[in-house]
Amino acid sequence: MTVSDPVVESIVATISRSATEIRQGLIGRRSTVDEENPSGETQVEADIWADELLGDRLRAIDGVGQYASEERAEVDDCGDDPATSGSFAVAVDPLDGSSNLKSNNAMGTVFGVYDDALPARGDALVTAGYILYGPITTMVLATEETVSEYELTGGERTVVETDLTLPDDPVVYGFGGRVPDWPEDFQAYAREIESELKLRYGGAMIGDVNQVLTYGGIFGYPGLESRPEGKLRLQFEGNPIGYIVERAGGRSSDGSQSLLSVEPTELHDRTPVHVGNADLIERLEDRLA
Ligand code: AHG
Ligand code: MN
Ligand code: MN
Ligand code: MN
Repeated sequence: MTVSDPVVESIVATISRSATEIRQGLIGRRSTVDEENPSGETQVEADIWADELLGDRLRAIDGVGQYASEERAEVDDCGDDPATSGSFAVAVDPLDGSSNLKSNNAMGTVFGVYDDALPARGDALVTAGYILYGPITTMVLATEETVSEYELTGGERTVVETDLTLPDDPVVYGFGGRVPDWPEDFQAYAREIESELKLRYGGAMIGDVNQVLTYGGIFGYPGLESRPEGKLRLQFEGNPIGYIVERAGGRSSDGSQSLLSVEPTELHDRTPVHVGNADLIERLEDRLA
């Protein structure tokens, strides 16, 4: 299944063809570096290396007007303005869950292709997807039409699912942050969910969201007492994942509205993120109302 727009297809192909190389390149790049990223978080060598590799390749594509990543303070204007031309803005989380590199657990690469200048609302997304570096390397890709899954090896991609949809009966849940740091109403919601579903929390949003897309359920990184805006970034994590899960038949929420409706103020805005089966999200929003 190729994406309709040739520039978007080239963006997707560039990222999927880089996956095997990124996976190989993680070896020997597991140590933390002294710098912090724009969110004030520790970086590992592989964060910076993957960002440079993807940034160089994506900025070279004709029709990519902006490149931005979790690891860079500013948007890189590399072509025509996506707000006024037909070019696209690509937002990338080069390595999601990079703290899992030390413990050799699942992690991923998240990307969103926007037809507006960054920072943009999620409803400006035309495509979003992620690479999951699990036992095998897979890509989940959402377009306006459908959600597909591919197995990646040696730069090639083989489609294994052309209509990925959230199973109706939820099975798993995973919530980030520490329980005492959750607001009271979220703690009450979590207690309800814990009595119904099985805990699956691996510490990389991509691995946890892939569990939800596979088995049905909910993943959340809620607003915290200590940090009401939560931990995850709207442009690089919330919007792409919200787009994917909504197109897979589920819902997304910042606690009161779809993630794709959240108005950004600046590039590295954080937002509470909750994605999964529609009724679970509805119950959450009722709880937090
Ligand atoms: P990143 O590695 O891109 O900074 O993202 C890490 C995020 C996300 O992947 C995951 O859901 C969350 O951090 C885990 O946070 P905790 O370590 O607080 O559980
Ligand atoms: Mn990070
Ligand atoms: Mn991330
Ligand atoms: Mn990251």
